[in-house]
Amino acid sequence: MTSNLRFDTRALREKDNEHVIHPWGYLKSADKQDTLLLADSEGVYVYDTDGNKFIDGPGGMWCVNIGYGNEAMAQAIADQVRQMTYYSPFGKLSTPPHAELGAKLAELAPGDLDRCFFATGGSSAVDSAIRFVWFYFNVMGKPDKKAVITREGAYHGSTFLASSLCGKARDKTYMDVMTDRVHHLPSPNPYRRPDGMSEAAFLDQCVKDLEDKILALGPDNVACFIGEPILASGGVIIPPKGYHRCTLEVCRKHGVLYISDEVVTGFGRLGHFFASEPVFDLVPDIITCAKGLTSGYVPLGAFIASEKLYQDVLGSKAETAVFSNGFTYSGHPVACAAGLKNIEIMEQQDVCGHVRRVSPHFQQRLQALGKLPLVGDVRGVGLMGCVEMVKDSRTKEPFPWEAGVGVKVDRCCQEKGLILRPMGHLCVFSPPLVISSSQIDRMFDIMHEAIVETQDELTRSGAWTA
Ligand SMILES: Cc1ncc(COP(=O)(O)O)c(C=O)c1O
Repeated sequence: MTSNLRFDTRALREKDNEHVIHPWGYLKSADKQDTLLLADSEGVYVYDTDGNKFIDGPGGMWCVNIGYGNEAMAQAIADQVRQMTYYSPFGKLSTPPHAELGAKLAELAPGDLDRCFFATGGSSAVDSAIRFVWFYFNVMGKPDKKAVITREGAYHGSTFLASSLCGKARDKTYMDVMTDRVHHLPSPNPYRRPDGMSEAAFLDQCVKDLEDKILALGPDNVACFIGEPILASGGVIIPPKGYHRCTLEVCRKHGVLYISDEVVTGFGRLGHFFASEPVFDLVPDIITCAKGLTSGYVPLGAFIASEKLYQDVLGSKAETAVFSNGFTYSGHPVACAAGLKNIEIMEQQDVCGHVRRVSPHFQQRLQALGKLPLVGDVRGVGLMGCVEMVKDSRTKEPFPWEAGVGVKVDRCCQEKGLILRPMGHLCVFSPPLVISSSQIDRMFDIMHEAIVETQDELTRSGAWTA
């Protein structure tokens, strides 16, 4: 397929530079950047405003799981807009898609996670989940349980509360966050564990970090632990095997609730609707999700809490307890209709099965990139992956962020028809889940060529020696 759509790219860039504040945009250099304007899409491909075609490596942003331009999805959204555009979800008001999607998520979620609260995206889902946990302990007569434990390298969103839970220091340089209730553990990144430490010893260390933190704060003061099963935006960090189960046990032992943030890992990315139980042997108290919930067609997020938590609230002495948290667009009928259709499409096309079938090939091609001298580490699960470029693979010294090595690789890839997501010395990718084996091959062939070319460029400029 090619795109017949054409736009005045220069004029659009000018408008964008002059009037748009971009999330995570460098304000000072914005007017010098060649903003990539994407205007058309189909399947795993996107097209820029000049008609250039790219494989979409990041799947939008870990989200376009069923691929672009799905007709059935477009129809479901249009039908819902015509039928019942919007109604308030507050109190005892609801709409059919809101109720249906709640029941469907309860069916798909593990254990007794049966109670859904709908938000407008991942950040507001996380924000709402933490507020629910605080609400829960207030209602249960334990108002001192307020501390939230998170990790360095975590990403949980961009509202004030969710951003406070993030663990990427760079993101806080010029930004204010809440510090008094939030406590960070070291990253569970096996690649950067201390020299000479075995992976088993590293697991013990990570679990001990959590237990030590709970004991230091006092279990009566700790509300919850929140963790992405895989730290996605932190660079696809996969904690050591057994980590999820062991950290859950520590939380259970000390009466600390466990939130599994599945905003990225949910909806098929790892071959299951929710990865917590089938991949990580973890049935948490709450799961947060967004992104793949609607495959990015319209914004929607949710948290799904256990029936036990809900029943505890019902059985409490707090007769007038109101969960005073919600948004005009909580449970938006159009978004919920998109969520329902997305799940139907995924079930009909067995998208999770497809991911389980093609991901060994994806991971094998990813591992092969690890042999290139510029690459220090490659890691991934399912259809998500990361390449980490280092100055010295023996010492694992990373390139400084400013060197923009990830951006260089991404630019090279773009020239060849692939978009990646560069982050400092990392490139991450998580293509639409409907990607075929031959499209996976094309993706990795391009990445291989681009890394080799970047190696050559860095060698020529004296910034790197093999
Ligand atoms: C694990 C995780 N949680 C939460 C969020 C926030 O989601 P949103 O950007 O939809 O608010 C993200 C976004 O990337 C994420 O990766």
